[in-house]
Amino acid sequence: MRLSALSCARRSPRPWRQTQRREAGSMARKRIAVIGAGVCGLSSVKCCLDEGLEPTCFERSHDIGGLWRFEENPEEGRASIYKSVIINTSKEMMCFSDFPIPEDYPNYMHHSKVMEYFRMYAERFGLLRHVRFQTNVVSVTKRPDFSTSGQWDVVTETEGKQDSAVFDGVMVCTGHHTHPHLPLASFPGIDTFKGRFLHSRDYKEPQEFSGKRVVVVGIGSSGTDLAVELSHTAEQVFLSTRRGAWILGRVGEEGYPIDTIHVTRYEESLRRIAPLPLLNYFSEKKLNAKFNHALYGLQPAHRFSSQHPTFSDDLPNCIISGKVLVKTNIREFTETGAIFEDGTREEDIDVVVFATGYSFSFPFLRDCVSVTDNQVSLYKFTFPPQLEKPTLAFIGLIQVLGAVMPVAELQARWATRVFKGLSGLPSASDMEADIARKREEMAKRYVKSQRYTLQADYVPYMDEVACLAGVQPKLLSLFLTDPKLAMEVFFGPCTPYQYRLRGPGKWDGARNAILSQRERIIKPLKTRVLAKDTRTLEPRYLWIFPIVALAAVIFAYFQVLLFKP
Ligand SMILES: Cc1cc2nc3c(=O)[nH]c(=O)nc-3n(C[C@H](O)[C@H](O)[C@H](O)COP(=O)(O)OP(=O)(O)OC[C@H]3O[C@@H](n4cnc5c(N)ncnc54)[C@H](O)[C@@H]3O)c2cc1C
Ligand SMILES: *[C@@H]1O[C@H](CO)[C@@H](O)[C@H](O)[C@H]1NC(C)=O
Repeated sequence: MRLSALSCARRSPRPWRQTQRREAGSMARKRIAVIGAGVCGLSSVKCCLDEGLEPTCFERSHDIGGLWRFEENPEEGRASIYKSVIINTSKEMMCFSDFPIPEDYPNYMHHSKVMEYFRMYAERFGLLRHVRFQTNVVSVTKRPDFSTSGQWDVVTETEGKQDSAVFDGVMVCTGHHTHPHLPLASFPGIDTFKGRFLHSRDYKEPQEFSGKRVVVVGIGSSGTDLAVELSHTAEQVFLSTRRGAWILGRVGEEGYPIDTIHVTRYEESLRRIAPLPLLNYFSEKKLNAKFNHALYGLQPAHRFSSQHPTFSDDLPNCIISGKVLVKTNIREFTETGAIFEDGTREEDIDVVVFATGYSFSFPFLRDCVSVTDNQVSLYKFTFPPQLEKPTLAFIGLIQVLGAVMPVAELQARWATRVFKGLSGLPSASDMEADIARKREEMAKRYVKSQRYTLQADYVPYMDEVACLAGVQPKLLSLFLTDPKLAMEVFFGPCTPYQYRLRGPGKWDGARNAILSQRERIIKPLKTRVLAKDTRTLEPRYLWIFPIVALAAVIFAYFQVLLFKP
């Protein structure tokens, strides 16, 4: 039995030590430094409060929200988004597990709505009073007695003045979409190119590109969004891609948000049972039925599961109307144009937008954690395995095919329990073995790229961390005690509320939130209420079903009788 949800012990290959090491003299509330007040920082502050820890959150800018707070100009040290960003994970899948998004909010929210929701969250749980704004963390170093105390010296800077304080734990929530990855060295001639070039981070809105000939490099979410948006007003957009991509729409079958249809425990268990080539075959067949990826020049060399798909409902439309032309990788730039790897040239290029992703680093943590080639070694993407005491956690430093919010929340719930000594970590060598095993698994499946160094499988990863935090839903006993709920947990969208049904941090509203999630998906669409839903079979014809069923049984019975040897 490989069903993912059934038991914790079955899923982890080793029974990790879950020691109850309540340290003597830990009566004083432990002080935790949370670095960054983006979505990961906010949920970390909340988890600290839930566990009775004392959080202080340092945020270098003047407000919360991190990446999701739009400003007209990019700021140094903070992620920057364009004006039209709409989130690619639907509201029931991306919400905090004990704070559903209002029922009338759209399923896929514009960044301004996302921000509104984060503000509501901060307000509801009184998080703001724990945040120190305009405070930059400049260094985090071990105290001399670290091996016994596990404490850190945290040096911060506010308006040029430095300050230092001691903390019992540190949660790093600085995000990984801040520093542009701009591989100019792989584009010979770019230094003599006379047009303008920029990274997608510096793109805000399409006006200034109106009437221009633009090349967008990269077919990730940003590159695709930008190509689509620019194509409405630019003279011509070229979308250059090395590998191509599988394109998924936000709008799934029957118009439901695609993640609410496919991110279910039921499909997850099918994915575990079925061989990968078969899954790839069916996924690709389905995507090609919508538009043939080869015909549109998008077909990747790699199979569906080897690469993160790109979300775009509009790209095929832009391609078929000739507004976006798909091109191969750029071999070199000339002064006025680009030569592509297939030998074709495009002249009179005005602008090149590099949507080539991001890199991350932790300049304030110099001697504890090293990042090479965008790789860090973290146990469950959270704890550095080599520290003498587990008092440093990274929250949200992970890439999943799903929303980061519920993932970060689970990491923070687990980490705060580790800080308190309620949950222990395995030995350093066991942790490293686990990291190596996971890395190997991902390397086998994914294309080698800067983009996949933090890759993990969404539901399996959340379940793993939920087990460690003691909050994994117990599906088997749920089927026995509350079948209605169990059905929705197993067959319905795997929403974050599932991790609030039991264990530390249990929320009484979780059951109701799960049973009412479909209503919240439908609600924002009901802006023109129809007098009668004409598609469904009228009730007066329903008597037909039992009669057909009965006839079938009788027929089968007689068939058996008649053909008995
Ligand atoms: C264009 C774009 C679209 C995206 N769309 C989605 C999506 O649809 N769904 C999804 O789940 N994810 C999406 N993401 C990923 C996104 O990173 C996460 O949604 C989320 O914002 C990560 O939150 P965070 O708190 O980890 O980091 P951030 O939101 O980046 O916040 C980090 C905060 O830390 C602060 N900070 C940094 N360094 C310091 C320091 N030294 N001292 C003090 N403060 C510091 C920063 O000022 C910032 O406020 C998208 C990313 C991009 C770039
Ligand atoms: C949504 O877009 C962001 C930014 O491009 C990306 O990192 C993330 O993986 C995407 N999410 C999904 C579910 O594809």
